[in-house]
Amino acid sequence: MTLPDLPVSDRCTAELTRLHLDEVQAPLDFGRVFGNDRDVELEVGVGKGRFLMLAATAMPDRNFVGVEYARRYLERAIARIGKRGLANVRLVHAEALAFLERFVAEKSVRAVHIYFPDPWPKKRHHKRRLIRPAVMTELARVMRSGASLRVVTDHDDYAAVIREVLSADGRFCTASEDRLEWKLPGMDRLIGPGVTNFEIKYRREGRSFHRFAVQRI
Ligand SMILES: C[S@@+](CC[C@H](N)C(=O)[O-])C[C@H]1O[C@@H](n2cnc3c(N)ncnc32)[C@H](O)[C@@H]1O
Repeated sequence: MTLPDLPVSDRCTAELTRLHLDEVQAPLDFGRVFGNDRDVELEVGVGKGRFLMLAATAMPDRNFVGVEYARRYLERAIARIGKRGLANVRLVHAEALAFLERFVAEKSVRAVHIYFPDPWPKKRHHKRRLIRPAVMTELARVMRSGASLRVVTDHDDYAAVIREVLSADGRFCTASEDRLEWKLPGMDRLIGPGVTNFEIKYRREGRSFHRFAVQRI
């Protein structure tokens, strides 16, 4: 899908967008990575990168890190974001839990976005779900006090589990209504048919969504 309203840079910054984990020191020093001390937001499971592309365009004064383990999607996201010269985004090819554990410093993140995480409906695959206690422990470690975690899913059964996991976690409290808003300030004019690629696809199919927002205590 083309987005004629988004600026396309002449420079190809795909190589700037990609963060090679084998070339950096762990944990990441985001100040060095971005060359500034602006707040950092993290998206887990970026897919083709639409959310980060819109968010980074709308909020140039904030930094965004995206993690994605499917190389095909990651390359699409890097190409899209790099083409637009968005210097405030870095994308990493990694499994989310491993990335958090090894590369993300304590209290270094001001918001986490997880949109349409794979529901893994088969019982034997539930351990692969992103919203599970082990991942929550890492998120709690890397999120600073007041940071918000937003999750959206179309999947009813997974939504029930997400509700349970989030509400049972004493390190987080329910965020105010406005934090349920997954459009970041300034994104309205850019959104078009949806905030993420899966949102667009699922809206077309007439599915409804469950939205969650919690805040790190
Ligand atoms: C259903 S897609 C949603 C993509 C995007 N957020 C959207 O809404 O369009 C889920 C994405 O999360 C990625 N993913 C799932 N589990 C992951 C993990 N443990 N680490 C990194 N990426 C993961 C998948 O490869 C996939 O691209």
